[in-house]
Amino acid sequence: MLVDTFRVDSPFVTYTEETIESKYEYKTTDMVHEVTKEGKYEWIARPKSVTYQFSTKRALPKLGVMLVGWGGNNGSTLTAGIIANREGISWVTKDGVQHANYFGSLTQASTCRIGSFSGEEIYVPFKSLLPMVDPNDIVIGGWDISDMNLADAMERARVLDIDLQKQLRPLMQDMVPLPGIFDPDFIAANQGSRANNIIKGSKKEQMEKVIQDIRTFKAETKVDKVVVLWTANTERYSDVITGLNDTKENLFDSLENGEPEISPSTLFALACIHEGVPFINGSPQNTFVPGVIEYAIEKNCLIGGDDFKSGQTKMKSVLVDFLVGAGIKPTSIVSYNHLGNNDGMNLSAPQTFRSKEISKSNVVDDMVSSNSILYSPGEHPDHVIVIKYVPYVGDSKRAMDEYTSEIFMGGRNTISMHNTCEDSLLAAPLILDLVLLAELCTRIQFKADGEEKFHSFHPVAALLSYLTKAPLVPPGTPVVNALAKQRSMLENVMRACIGLAPENNMMLEYK
Ligand SMILES: NC(=O)c1ccc[n+]([C@@H]2O[C@H](COP(=O)([O-])OP(=O)(O)OC[C@H]3O[C@@H](n4cnc5c(N)ncnc54)[C@H](O)[C@@H]3O)[C@@H](O)[C@H]2O)c1
Repeated sequence: MLVDTFRVDSPFVTYTEETIESKYEYKTTDMVHEVTKEGKYEWIARPKSVTYQFSTKRALPKLGVMLVGWGGNNGSTLTAGIIANREGISWVTKDGVQHANYFGSLTQASTCRIGSFSGEEIYVPFKSLLPMVDPNDIVIGGWDISDMNLADAMERARVLDIDLQKQLRPLMQDMVPLPGIFDPDFIAANQGSRANNIIKGSKKEQMEKVIQDIRTFKAETKVDKVVVLWTANTERYSDVITGLNDTKENLFDSLENGEPEISPSTLFALACIHEGVPFINGSPQNTFVPGVIEYAIEKNCLIGGDDFKSGQTKMKSVLVDFLVGAGIKPTSIVSYNHLGNNDGMNLSAPQTFRSKEISKSNVVDDMVSSNSILYSPGEHPDHVIVIKYVPYVGDSKRAMDEYTSEIFMGGRNTISMHNTCEDSLLAAPLILDLVLLAELCTRIQFKADGEEKFHSFHPVAALLSYLTKAPLVPPGTPVVNALAKQRSMLENVMRACIGLAPENNMMLEYK
């Protein structure tokens, strides 16, 4: 049964006008090793509990979202989707009448189990766990190196049904992206032809223009908060060079000197951190060079990414988790993709493809290293990724994967998968979740036993990992790729904020 709203009744939870306060007992385990009397080495697991206090602001800001790459397939599809939902638009397709929805969004279209009543499970919408901005209220804007208005950009993208496009056109044709930062050294040469809307000047001046753009957008739209998200073209990797971008100080010196190795996405990230505006990277490149991370930590400004986890990788982070968790040993994973949108065209250059290859490659590492019954130290499945540009399929990306595994007594198991992705329709709801959750994170404060003051989450937002392929995590934090673990991290932290136990699936009450 789905219930829309609920209230937690507990001595450890207080709802005030401004906040939800919770006291939460976090049960965890300390691992230590000791040498026994017999001289043996022994690991010991010591359960412990730490009390955390959470304080979540309830007032919802008027939220502005600025997309870098606003006129691209993702940017135009998300904009169209929000407007269609806000206006309650329906349209006719060959299969009948379709209504606007937010399917594919974790926050808007998934549910969480809260408990049971008379033997029936009670679920609530994910978005009702904590106060969250309604996507229909978002004010959207952004930058693009192409000056095409959003109605034409939607048509260029060839993603949405024509009857829907016709209804949306008048609502989108006056939306025109601000000029973007074009650096042909960082994206494929084939993108040059659409670059007619460009911020001029030195790297520093470009960054300063972005700062000004954010301030103007805020003032003109009267939003309380802004979140910026990069959904522009995949860039090549920046070289991380000692003295250039390895520290904040060196990065700012390099900016002063107009050092060519600073990418457009890094300039956007610096501008956002300067303004205390959360910045999320949805593409695979290493925007967050060490100097950027240091700056974000210093300014306590949320950053997160990289690369939306929408199709093939999402399946991989489920399937490999299942196989390894079942004691089956994947030995070869081969992933082919072909796509025909502008993203595919940009990825046809070797240096931008390489960024994608890297972000897709590491996704099974944590699952493989979790099971040394199957894998000896250093052993890894063969893992190959191929991406080809096939214009005819447009945004309808095909992802074909073959997983070969060793099973009982030397047997072989092969799973082949064909996934027709509809790329931008999968990515747009992830963008929505990323900005809504990033905004929510800025309203949560917490402290553990012994800590004097409340503080925010670490500015490197590992909580957003569920939505990205190569999740950026704070230094010294393990990277989790397994999708189910990423989802339960997010859900359980949100539950902790309202004093609910993590979903442990024990269901002892039924045993
Ligand atoms: N769609 C998916 O499922 C998916 C999944 C993971 C990652 N991504 C990544 O998301 C990004 C966007 O995908 P898309 O399909 O919308 O691509 P797209 O090519 O349609 O859109 C990108 C837009 O960015 C603009 N642009 C390029 N450089 C810019 C800059 N420096 N400043 C401002 N604008 C700039 C381009 O003109 C274009 O309009 C790509 O990097 C892609 O790899 C997409």
